[in-house]
Amino acid sequence: MSAPSRRLFLGASVAGLGSVVLRAQEPASEPRPAPLVMANKELPTFQPTTLFLTWHTDPTTTMDVQWVGTAGETADTKVYYTTGKIVPPGRGLPRILAAAVDWQTAVTVARPYPMTDFKVYKALLTGLTPGTEYSFKIGKSSPVYKFRTMPAKATDVVQFISGGDCGVNTAAVANNVQAARQNPSFAVVGGDLGYDNGTSVETSLAFLRNYSRTMFTRDGCMIPLLACLGNHEVRGGYGSSRANGTFFYPLFENLYPDTGYATLDFGDYLSLVMLDTGHTSPIAGEQTDWLAHTLKDRADHPNVFVVNHVPCYPSYRNPLSAKVRDPLDSTAGTGELQRKLWAPLFDKYRVPVVLEHHDHTFKRTKPLIDGLPNPDGVLYLGDGSWGRIRSPQKSDPLHVMAKTSEDYHLSLHRLQGTERYHLALDTEGAVMDVTRSGQRSTGGVAVKS
Ligand SMILES: [Fe+2]
Ligand SMILES: [Fe+2]
Repeated sequence: MSAPSRRLFLGASVAGLGSVVLRAQEPASEPRPAPLVMANKELPTFQPTTLFLTWHTDPTTTMDVQWVGTAGETADTKVYYTTGKIVPPGRGLPRILAAAVDWQTAVTVARPYPMTDFKVYKALLTGLTPGTEYSFKIGKSSPVYKFRTMPAKATDVVQFISGGDCGVNTAAVANNVQAARQNPSFAVVGGDLGYDNGTSVETSLAFLRNYSRTMFTRDGCMIPLLACLGNHEVRGGYGSSRANGTFFYPLFENLYPDTGYATLDFGDYLSLVMLDTGHTSPIAGEQTDWLAHTLKDRADHPNVFVVNHVPCYPSYRNPLSAKVRDPLDSTAGTGELQRKLWAPLFDKYRVPVVLEHHDHTFKRTKPLIDGLPNPDGVLYLGDGSWGRIRSPQKSDPLHVMAKTSEDYHLSLHRLQGTERYHLALDTEGAVMDVTRSGQRSTGGVAVKS
């Protein structure tokens, strides 16, 4: 980050940054239970431990409520939701001020959860009011949970968490807690969620349980989860079939109905372009064609973030083809095909940030155009160390790295008016790196047409 950029960030967001540092000084604590209130004076009899929120269409007006469970464990699986005021009485059991509440109902569908008798239950809430807090409950016997829809316009600061390569160990849970402390509007996990490998149902559920019990904002709203596909969601890892994304697709098929790649537009102010780095969709061909027109269609959007699992610019693995060392070895370097097919599109359409994972380090590249440093180029942030860690390579054969380290970390992205900041947070929540990404539609970026 250049000195002017750092000054600009500190000047524009000193209050926000201060709050991050302050939180970093708080003692670590165990994940707290879901901040629930009761739907009535009865004890809740149905509290799904895998309950989470996600989206498959505009997050300003929708919310997908999902959990994994068994048929018959609760009689009424409909989701009741309201903007009505839920009033904790102060002493004794909280209750709903019934006269103020007008519950609406969403039907829940159940889909098979492979290798088990479980079902994935999904209620897709639509027609919601942007920037509004909602309460919801499952049937009549669950606690009441809360969420907030995304704002219609990015007039205030919008911030979200990204990371990847979580697993289900204590480091992953500790980073969940740190992620939640930042009060993000949502979290993006760029592949390798629980490391179920498309074979371990228990691992897939353990990831959801950890997420479900830890990812709440400070005012008790559940933090929606967006996920892209990694090799450890798929039996075989690469070049595999959709059926081998055993648990990923049943959970996230609404966002990914046909392919392993998709885009999610937040009103007109934020777009996430989620890619499949060759796990169930080939990089070349249809996905690259789709990426070209998807980015072209969003060339005027103010904030376009690409999310992919295998990095274009790896910090641990070797980016160079084995041919460099052995002319007879045609093994491709990590990210080589993406650098050939996708990076020119990121350059051409001025993608400000690409979020990368898979290598289990912290990395920030220099801003790049055509693989070379350019102050208004594409920033590649990674490399997936939410709960897994490796030591980055000492050499930098492509000469692209600005900073790498062997640290667990999360990225906190902050959209502030026309500015876009990216903070790397360590396991204590302290800021270990701050950078700003370039403007999309102004400046002197020379790109190939
Ligand atoms: Fe990984
Ligand atoms: Fe991976």
